[in-house]
Amino acid sequence: MSSVKGALSKDQVGKKVKLKGWIYRNRSSGGIVFAVLRDSSGIVQITVKKGTVPDGDFDAATKAAIESSVIVEGEVAEDKRAPGGYEVRASKFQLVGSSEGFPITEYQSTELLLDLRHLWIRSREQTAVAKVKASLLRGAREWFHENGYVEVTPPIVTGVAPEDSTTLFQLKYFDRIAYLSQSAQFYLESLIYSLEKVYSLTPSFRAEKSRTPRHLAEYWHLEMEAAWMHNEENMDVQEQLVVAMLHNAVAECSEELIHLKRDPATLKKIEPPFERIKYDEAMETLQKKGIDVSWGSDLGAIEERELTMDRTVPVFVVNYPKELKPFYMKENPEDNRTYKNSDLLAPEGFGEIIGGSERETDNALLVERLKEKGESLENYRWYLDLRKYGSVPHSGFGLGLERIVTWVCKLDHIRDSTPYPRTVARVYP
Ligand code: 4AD
Ligand code: MG
Repeated sequence: MSSVKGALSKDQVGKKVKLKGWIYRNRSSGGIVFAVLRDSSGIVQITVKKGTVPDGDFDAATKAAIESSVIVEGEVAEDKRAPGGYEVRASKFQLVGSSEGFPITEYQSTELLLDLRHLWIRSREQTAVAKVKASLLRGAREWFHENGYVEVTPPIVTGVAPEDSTTLFQLKYFDRIAYLSQSAQFYLESLIYSLEKVYSLTPSFRAEKSRTPRHLAEYWHLEMEAAWMHNEENMDVQEQLVVAMLHNAVAECSEELIHLKRDPATLKKIEPPFERIKYDEAMETLQKKGIDVSWGSDLGAIEERELTMDRTVPVFVVNYPKELKPFYMKENPEDNRTYKNSDLLAPEGFGEIIGGSERETDNALLVERLKEKGESLENYRWYLDLRKYGSVPHSGFGLGLERIVTWVCKLDHIRDSTPYPRTVARVYP
């Protein structure tokens, strides 16, 4: 048994292969069926000639409709006209599962493709994205492992709102109310007192009502937290991690990247360090570009696009005004209107892929900020405890996996970075 990819090489020519896959295209003319077979590794042309296979097999090949599953045996031959330059000349063709009237044809509306997502994920584009995503993730896990981080498993059902209490998904939890996690951060913070350097990959949930090309209601969140770390080093970690992810994707998935119209060379060139610009400088740059912002304005999609459009390498924006960020961040001693935090913006207009900061260690300050927000201190008692027993300077960040995939794969919309996107309008299929 071989894979399609295994059949596509010069040293396979003349060899017998047995391929299992799905019909990608099929046409017949003058006693020959030209089928294209797809499996997880790619596509290959199959020719089935009347007389060289049993009559029943030829009949099956003629009728095998798009997405039928088949098993083909045959010999590999060079053929310049075939996709990939090789074809398999069948000696056996077996239909395993028929496929009548596959509902996706060449030109389909975005909505229809979302309704038929369970079938559309078979497309070559979706397959390529899935492989790149897996590769980015593997690069990240390897980097964390090599650098002494321990992977941990925080809860998804929680009583705290680390980010924005307006985007919480509430859930009936026995006879109480609980929330779906927005971020594992607080739990990771609690784990650094024993493990020092931790990371987790969890689903995060944001009840984002606005429909934007970069927000999902459910996404995969890669987060890290480290004891004894200040925000400068936190940013060093982020740039090294991102580069490790990119380089792994280039090493493992250059064909997929090219299929997605991303030149792997642009990613390969990216090396640390990334430029670090202050929020104030970002404001000045935007004002010079004629964008109507002033000190205190948030950086939304439009502003981040302006800041990154002409860049090919990610950039950090550091020290945001406190009003724009959550209560747990550490005050910036050089300008107490701001925090010791950073957002990492992907280039080419893509914008934020990571949010990170040093964490506030002063209990009184945290209590004050929680009260200002009208939060119940009771829910945060355990979090505040962490500052009472051997508190240490610490920092961490969260990377949106679908955000980095959207950038790396040059996707127009974040929904294509995940097999089953969850948005305000969609939980089916
Ligand atoms: O900037 P955020 O909200 O930061 C946190 O959640 C921190 N508690 C993380 C931490 O320090 N441990 O989210 C982090 C990242 C963003 O930079 C973005 O990449 C992604 O999560 N993200 C989303 N991705 C897709 N859809 C959404 N609705 C997202 N919201 C945030
Ligand atoms: Mg953020």
